[in-house]
Amino acid sequence: MRPEPRLDWNATLYSQRHSFVWKHGEDLIDLLAPQPGERILDAGCGAGQLTAKLAASGARLTGLDNSPAMLEAARAACPSADFILSDLTQFDTAEPFDAVFSNAALHWVRPPEQAACRIAAALKPGGRFVAELGGTGNVATLLDAANALLGERGHAPRQPWYFPSVGEYSTLLEQAGLEVTYAILFDRLTPLEGGEEGLADWFEVFGRTLLHDEPEWRASVLPQLKERVRPKLFDPSNRQWVADYRRLRIAARKPL
Ligand code: BEZ
Repeated sequence: MRPEPRLDWNATLYSQRHSFVWKHGEDLIDLLAPQPGERILDAGCGAGQLTAKLAASGARLTGLDNSPAMLEAARAACPSADFILSDLTQFDTAEPFDAVFSNAALHWVRPPEQAACRIAAALKPGGRFVAELGGTGNVATLLDAANALLGERGHAPRQPWYFPSVGEYSTLLEQAGLEVTYAILFDRLTPLEGGEEGLADWFEVFGRTLLHDEPEWRASVLPQLKERVRPKLFDPSNRQWVADYRRLRIAARKPL
């Protein structure tokens, strides 16, 4: 049997035009307050920029990601870390961590209950979990417009990502055995690099599970989508697209 083809990331375009993903997550490190010598798991480490920032605190990092392309970039960004190619839902460790950190990754991981259980299992008693992910209503303008166009082409509505509310995600972490100590949902309007091309680049990198199976999606769906969202999401004075991001930040602890 032939293996399923993998939908891997465009790591180059991700790093070139979407550095806001890790830059916006940088102050999440303060919420974790990593200590020298601690062992920290960076769950969904992507291209490793925040893995490297975490390692600069003197902590010992393990980066986990299910994308070979991202892990190749991450190894270059943080040579001192260990890296594991795995889906978080399959991850198991014999040596639990002092902390699990995750930025802009958990909205990709299904089922989220299984991810939460693996995070809880990966922590020592007293271990900390700090994460940021898309929250409820994240990119709603883009998602609604894409679904309206897909609907006109006979497709059922799609929601490829998990964007929970504070209540939903707190409950899920509690059910996994963690105690939630902090949670906040907030809007983060996010300017996209690349001028007029910025939205196409965003869909190129992040929209692969939403649009890419539409034949010629760049030439067929995208021009219509752009015109529908332009009044809300294009900033004419700076000539740039602004994505309607909403973030959920959360911290939790495994009881002693
Ligand atoms: C996000 O980081 O919020 C995001 C990532 C992929 C698709 C949509 C949103």
